[in-house]
Amino acid sequence: MKVDKVNPLIEFDNVSVRYRLPHEKIASLKEYAIRRLKKSINYIDFWALREINFKVYQGELVGIIGSNGAGKSTLLKVISRVLRPTLGSIRVRGLVAPLLELGAGFDYELTGRENIYLNGTILGFKVKDISKRFDRIVDFAGIKDFIDSPLRTYSTGMITRLGFAIATDIKPDILVLDEIFAVGDEEFQKKSIKRIERFKSKGTTILLVSHNLNQVKSMCEKVVWLEGGITRAVGPSKEVIEKYQRTKR
Ligand SMILES: Nc1ncnc2c1ncn2[C@@H]1O[C@H](COP(=O)(O)OP(=O)(O)O)[C@@H](O)[C@H]1O
Ligand SMILES: [Mg+2]
Repeated sequence: MKVDKVNPLIEFDNVSVRYRLPHEKIASLKEYAIRRLKKSINYIDFWALREINFKVYQGELVGIIGSNGAGKSTLLKVISRVLRPTLGSIRVRGLVAPLLELGAGFDYELTGRENIYLNGTILGFKVKDISKRFDRIVDFAGIKDFIDSPLRTYSTGMITRLGFAIATDIKPDILVLDEIFAVGDEEFQKKSIKRIERFKSKGTTILLVSHNLNQVKSMCEKVVWLEGGITRAVGPSKEVIEKYQRTKR
């Protein structure tokens, strides 16, 4: 297999992301509209990411670490095109399979069956292709007996398994994983790690957010350490994780 180490698959160019929160509580939509016209809404600006610059090449396994609120999920959302940078730009080439926060892309009132179609469509697959892969997805997720029950009756583990099964049924160019191993059971972890390893051997690029530093160290060759929206370090896993652990002691 030919691996392209010249043209990056993901390229962050001075990416900053700002969340904007209304400062005061606004009672109604009418009040909001009036105050908006009068420009009398006060916002609190919060920069969740500041001037992020790094590149990811084909086949790389990159871990993203940092404290709660560091900006890890925001970074993955920018890659998955769920969020647009406020400043700067990002280039992403290829099919992205995003596994973001729990339940993203699902409707809890719909059944598992309906959600497979809903989520698959959001990921950009055709209905015909989803039908072809339906049984395989249900089988991998291990939810056969619950397939016609509404998603709200599922456990968090079942929802995570279903999300993973849909997003990874075909090999993506870029796999984005936001703490998916925090909820699944051990058997699911083994199964999904096997699938991830297979993608890896076929050149898929993987970005992984995990609190399990041992897992990051064993799976990823490169680590990005975020703190307060700023990159504290980018480099070989062992080096960056040791630096990170020194500040935690
Ligand atoms: N939709 C949002 N609106 C306002 N602030 C947000 C939003 N999402 C996240 N934040 C804030 O941005 C910061 C980074 O969040 P996040 O990217 O989820 O961090 P992490 O995944 O590293 O815990 C946090 O302080 C969080 O409170
Ligand atoms: Mg997060």
